Amino acid sequence: MDTPILIDLPDKVVSDRVLLRPYKSGDGQALFEAVDESREHILPWMPWGPGHQSASDSENLVRTWRARWELREDLAMGMWDRATGLYLGGTGLHRIDWNVRSFEIGYWIRSSQQGKGYVTAAVRMLSRLAFDSLMANRVFIRCAAPNVRSAAVAQRSGFVFEGCLRNSIRDANGELHDAQVYSLIPSEWAALRDQAPAR
Ligand SMILES: CC(C)(COP(=O)(O)OP(=O)(O)OC[C@H]1O[C@@H](n2cnc3c(N)ncnc32)[C@H](O)[C@@H]1OP(=O)(O)O)[C@@H](O)C(=O)NCCC(=O)NCCS
Repeated sequence: MDTPILIDLPDKVVSDRVLLRPYKSGDGQALFEAVDESREHILPWMPWGPGHQSASDSENLVRTWRARWELREDLAMGMWDRATGLYLGGTGLHRIDWNVRSFEIGYWIRSSQQGKGYVTAAVRMLSRLAFDSLMANRVFIRCAAPNVRSAAVAQRSGFVFEGCLRNSIRDANGELHDAQVYSLIPSEWAALRDQAPAR
């Protein structure tokens, strides 16, 4: 296996409407504005949410995410509207096991841009990146059982329900939840690959 740092990664992934790219210095302001408008809906499920008290906190995070991208430890990406340049939210490939070639897709979207299919498009783009470029053997999505919007993204994207990890997620209020796990393996991706492209 290549040392992970030698694995080549694209600078960006694009669909008709969405651009995904690793974070870079200067993205902190856009990230902060998106988090700030979305606290109510993201905070229960995103443990890093309360860390964004100022644009400088967000800038600190984007530079950390970028460093981890370069090391291939974690592949956090920003999601951008190609037409307007608006920062839409965050996604990426996380909990990477380069030996198994297993990746978790994570996502959140700013409040004003929910319900437009951007996240579903991002999941499709990342599945393509993982399976077709990074030779994934497993791509999974994990969400707290009450987070029905998140589960809907996994289901809409063709991920297969795999099981329930009992008492494995604590929300921002400290309450424990079961996690639902959805995944794809290469044979399933092969069947999905040629369906309608991500928009
Ligand atoms: C979970 C979360 C990312 C889902 O966002 P979302 O906006 O519902 O997801 P999408 O962008 O894929 O949009 C899907 C919706 O857009 C609609 N839609 C419109 N155009 C669409 C298109 N071209 N393609 C697909 N869906 C489209 C779908 O019908 C669906 O609507 P519905 O909610 O009425 O069923 C969002 O609720 C969120 O950020 N939550 C907080 C953070 C979080 O929980 N993250 C996940 C942790 S596991």
